[in-house]
Amino acid sequence: MERAHPLPVAALEQLFLDARTYNRFTEREVDDATLHRMVDLMKWGPTAMNACPARFVFIKSAAAKARLGPALSPGNHDKTMAAPCVAIIAYDLEFYHRLPLLFPHVDGEALFANKPDDARAVAFRSGTLQAAYFILAARALGLDCGPMGGFDNAQVDATFFAGSSWRSNILVNLGYGDPASLRPRNARLAFDQCARIE
Ligand SMILES: Cc1cc2nc3c(=O)[nH]c(=O)nc-3n(C[C@H](O)[C@H](O)[C@H](O)COP(=O)(O)O)c2cc1C
Repeated sequence: MERAHPLPVAALEQLFLDARTYNRFTEREVDDATLHRMVDLMKWGPTAMNACPARFVFIKSAAAKARLGPALSPGNHDKTMAAPCVAIIAYDLEFYHRLPLLFPHVDGEALFANKPDDARAVAFRSGTLQAAYFILAARALGLDCGPMGGFDNAQVDATFFAGSSWRSNILVNLGYGDPASLRPRNARLAFDQCARIE
């Protein structure tokens, strides 16, 4: 397949130019098949040593939302409770147990098992990259996102990941955005303000 050409403008609009962060969504549900498709797209984004350290919990039920609610900052609470779906994007501090499958020519246990600082750095960096791939995969499938850092990570970890090696990174509200909820978009830095070519 020929891949040397940019995506059509309509695709660039859907992924970047017109895509917005949403605080309010329509009533339309996010079905489980769409969540599966999203993960199946997201997973092809690159990570260090192909470690794929991100982990995901999709919260749709009222019972699970009620467990999440107390960990949210006040400004994020009501909109998250109202969202059709909330993804907890986490990373696995013990991602290296999966390296025999994902990167078999390297002894992951030897590299990371007794080096928690190294393991955390890899898990957080690549897990955060995967969160970005996740947002773009959601947009590619027609969903809208509301990413949030405003929550108590320790509380989410105690509630959803007690006794495990998963740690929360960001939350992403998911659904079909209500355009009436949008404010005018803020500026972005121009090339010369954020980049240079040497
Ligand atoms: C990592 C991250 C954390 C964020 N945390 C919050 C948050 O806690 N609460 C909130 O209302 N918006 C949050 N946002 C939303 C940003 O403010 C928003 O994506 C940004 O202003 C761009 O808006 P636009 O996509 O509509 O242009 C967060 C976004 C990201 C990517």
